[in-house]
Amino acid sequence: MDMNDFILGIESSCDETAVCIMDASKNILSHRIASQIKTHAKHGGVVPELASRQHARIIHSLVDNCLSEAALQMDKLSKIAVTKGPGLEGALLVGITYAKTLAHCLQRPLIGVNHLHGHIYAAFLNKTTPTFPFVALIVSGGHTQLVLVKNHFQFNLLGQTRDDAAGEAFDKVARVLNLGYPGGPIIDKLAKTGEPTAFNFPRAMIKRGLEFSFSGLKTAVIQTVRKLESEYTDSEHMDSEHTGPELLSETTKANIAASFQAAVVDILVHKCLAACQQEGVTDLVVCGGVSANSGLKAALENACNKASLNLFIPPLNLCTDNAAMIAVTGYYMDKYNITNTPIEVNSSLSL
Ligand code: KG4
Ligand code: ZN
Repeated sequence: MDMNDFILGIESSCDETAVCIMDASKNILSHRIASQIKTHAKHGGVVPELASRQHARIIHSLVDNCLSEAALQMDKLSKIAVTKGPGLEGALLVGITYAKTLAHCLQRPLIGVNHLHGHIYAAFLNKTTPTFPFVALIVSGGHTQLVLVKNHFQFNLLGQTRDDAAGEAFDKVARVLNLGYPGGPIIDKLAKTGEPTAFNFPRAMIKRGLEFSFSGLKTAVIQTVRKLESEYTDSEHMDSEHTGPELLSETTKANIAASFQAAVVDILVHKCLAACQQEGVTDLVVCGGVSANSGLKAALENACNKASLNLFIPPLNLCTDNAAMIAVTGYYMDKYNITNTPIEVNSSLSL
């Protein structure tokens, strides 16, 4: 990148519309994230059609706001980086169409960024960056994957979930406890007040390879909740007007949250260490929405300390979906002339 280059990053793969302007030294000049949580919370999860509409409604004003904060005219943007997938197709199309149009009108290069690469490259926004080769755990609402990153944009998939993603399990457990959406941050907070050993939830496949499975854990939590509810209904509270998780005491809910989170954390930490050992690497990146989890972060710090591993977790607000991670990935794709990236892990739209 030239000294006068400015890269625009756009992210619209799920329920956050985000825009970022980055300069040629990887400084974030402006960054806006518009969360759609309020829109989707009342439905208990992301409604794709509503997500697309909201992206379309807001994207232009986010770009305008970022340009004024960065004190730049639109024609000073030299490269446009946009999430090309994986994600909700209609939501992705809003960002892609906007970015394509802008790139066409300004006659600038368009860089299509894989969202998962974006999560990994969020670790390159820190002052100290990981050294190749390193292991990355991507742990988000849609993905749970261990990846060996051999060099820039050279990825080897080491293992992934066979069923639910870790973030999805957080969201589903929160739903069954009637806690709200998204479940991750709510469970994280509630778990702080609970007892992590109160319930002994299963740690599926903890010993077997680098694959994950969270659906058994999710089912065990659901069964525990249902059992406690029915015990309560069968008791003297038969005449209670209340039903469902509202019957459980705050302490019980906190204990379930803490015990569930402890199981997820155990599995994730164990697999990260196993992957680093298997690959003989000393640097570990943990990224994606669930890497914002305070229990996970504390356990990883502790385990990495003991195992003499260097741990890299993006800053808190850059763990969940954002546009700085897309801009910085675009920055490195441009720097290393990457036009076609392998491991298209799930569905993705081509640009
Ligand atoms: O990376 P992200 O923003 O979007 C995807 O690419 O999926 O991740 C969102 C996921 C959600 O499932 C959310 O519940 C989870 O990350 N999450 C957390 C926390 N903050 C967000 N999970 C556990 N603890 C948190 N503090
Ligand atoms: Zn994400």
